[in-house]
Amino acid sequence: MLTNNTAGGVGPLNFDYKLLDFGNGRKLEQFGSYILDRPSPASTTKPSNPEIWHTKTATFIPEVGWDIPENLYKEWTISILDAVVRLKLSVSGQVGIFPEQYQNWIFLRDLSDHCTKELNILNGFAYTGISTIFSVNGLNRITHVDGSSSAINWAKENYKMNFNSSGVRFINDDMITFMNKELKRGKKYSGFIFDPPEFGRGPNGEWSLKKDLEKLIELTNQLAYEPYFFIFSTHSQWLGKKELLSFMKKLKFFNKNYEIFDLDLVSEYNKKLNMGICFRWISH
Ligand SMILES: C[S@@+](CC[C@H](N)C(=O)[O-])C[C@H]1O[C@@H](n2cnc3c(N)ncnc32)[C@H](O)[C@@H]1O
Repeated sequence: MLTNNTAGGVGPLNFDYKLLDFGNGRKLEQFGSYILDRPSPASTTKPSNPEIWHTKTATFIPEVGWDIPENLYKEWTISILDAVVRLKLSVSGQVGIFPEQYQNWIFLRDLSDHCTKELNILNGFAYTGISTIFSVNGLNRITHVDGSSSAINWAKENYKMNFNSSGVRFINDDMITFMNKELKRGKKYSGFIFDPPEFGRGPNGEWSLKKDLEKLIELTNQLAYEPYFFIFSTHSQWLGKKELLSFMKKLKFFNKNYEIFDLDLVSEYNKKLNMGICFRWISH
C-alpha cells in the first residue's frame, strides 16, 4: 500500500495514489497497483522523466478506448483514508475518483468525526460517492444526487463496501430539477457539496455551469437551514477565482469564514498540475 500522498500537499495520510509525471497533454498516475497513462489537457509542459512512462499498465486514447494487457482486470480497489473504493477502467477514460478532491475528503472526514450536531447533507453531482462516504458518521443524513444511473450504481457499490447500514438516499436525477422538487417538499439542508461539470445531462433535465450556477445558488439559499458547511468545486476555464467568489457572495450565509484554493496535484518531481479551484465555507 502506498502511503505517500501527493494530492494537495496535505500530510502523509493513507491514499493509494501518486501523480508520477505529466506533460505533452497526458498524465501518468498510479492508482494502487495500476499505472495509467491518460489525456490531461492541463499538462502543457514537457514530462519530467520520459523513462518512467514505460512502467504504465494501461493507456487511454480518446475515441479508441483503453489499451490494456489481455489478462488485466478492468476493476480493482484502492484505499483512501479509512475507506475502500472500487475503481474501473470506464469507457470515458475515468476511473471513479478525482484525486484532486483529496483535500475535501479530509475536510469531510474531519468534520464528520468531530461535529456533534446532526447535519442534513446534500451531495450534488456526486459521481461514485467518495464525498458521501466521508460524510457518514452515524448521525448525518445524506442525500447523494447524480444524473447518471451508472454513477449511482457505482456509488452504491462503494457505499456497501464500507458500511452495513442503508443511511444514504441515492437519487438519480438532474440536480436543478431535484432541488426544485425538494423546495416544493419543504426539505431543508445544512451541508452542501457540489462538484459540477461544465455541461451534463440528468434523466429529467440538463445542467450548464454558465446558465445554471445562479439558479443553483438561489436554490441553495432557499434550501439552507442553519447552514454548517458549503463546498463548491469547479474545473471550468470560464470560472476563475475572482468570478467564483462573486457568485459565492450571493449565498445568504456568505461571510469571512471561507477559503478559495487551487485543486492541485503534485507530481513525484514536485511539479504542480492544476485541476480546478474550490470554494469552501464553514459556519465557525
Ligand atoms: C466532476 S464529476 C463529480 C466528481 C465527484 N464529486 C468526486 O469527487 O468524485 C461530475 C458528476 O456530475 C454528474 N452530472 C452531470 N450532469 C448532471 C446533471 N444534470 N444533474 C446531476 N448530475 C449530473 C455526472 O454524472 C458526474 O458524475
